[in-house]
Amino acid sequence: MVAELSAELIGQVEQAAQLLQSAKRVCILTGAGISAESGIPTFRDKQTGLWENYGVEDLATPEAFTRDPKLVWSWYQWRRQLVADKAPNPAHHALAQWQYHAQTSDQTVTLITQNVDDLHEQAGSSVTHLHGHLWRDRCGQCEIPYPEQSSAAYIKQDTIRFDDKLITCPHCDGYIRPNIVWFGEALPVQAWQAAEEAAANCDVFISIGTSSLVYPAAGLSQLAKQNGAQVIEINPDPTPDTIVDITFAEKAGLILPPLIEAITDL
Ligand code: OAD
Repeated sequence: MVAELSAELIGQVEQAAQLLQSAKRVCILTGAGISAESGIPTFRDKQTGLWENYGVEDLATPEAFTRDPKLVWSWYQWRRQLVADKAPNPAHHALAQWQYHAQTSDQTVTLITQNVDDLHEQAGSSVTHLHGHLWRDRCGQCEIPYPEQSSAAYIKQDTIRFDDKLITCPHCDGYIRPNIVWFGEALPVQAWQAAEEAAANCDVFISIGTSSLVYPAAGLSQLAKQNGAQVIEINPDPTPDTIVDITFAEKAGLILPPLIEAITDL
């Protein structure tokens, strides 16, 4: 696998692998870019990015849902249909393989994602979601999950359930909405605490496929750096971020498989 890379990239992969092999705690933050090679559009890439073609304020805010819940639902149903048949790509698989390997080593590999798809889980990873789940619903008022015993698999089977009529909560009569963190809303407390703790205590922080524009998630690499971590970024269009120590200006699916192969010595 490493042989497919240029000599320069092979050197960079080896340098990063050495750093990562000696790290006790690694914190990884992924964004939409890691799922791009699975065929899921990112948010801000020119032409194909979701926010290049749709208005955030019309679709991903609590105000938008209050104003026109059916419009918001139809957009999320469309996204569910877009994502339903997508599968993890080599980047997701490589991270899952690394976490599996870490279970029998003295390394902790914490994976945090801003993505609402479940491709990390499908690959076998244990992952903390900062921005919610595309396949889960909850009440917009009392926040109780809907249905209460819901599983992602259950909701996934029925991607067009809410197109025609709005469902109301059996507890408080509020409208059921996608369990996604919208702009202006707070992140789930436990997920954010876990992310902050992992970032503040890691030896190496890896940022993969994120434009690092949306806070507070974008602040995690800075938190890691302030606490002495080295920062690695994998993004074909790297962020102009001076805190990054090693930049791979390449696709995640190209870099992660050889990098993780080198770290785990498989
Ligand atoms: P963005 O769309 O802002 O950024 C995606 C990044 O992925 C860009 O910097 C691309 O250059 C990079 N990229 C594209 N293809 C890649 C590949 N094959 N490998 C690696 N990187 C690649 O997406 P996010 O940063 O995830 O919020 O956006 C953050 C949040 O903004 C999202 O979670 C979402 C959105 O509004 C919510 O849903 C709450």
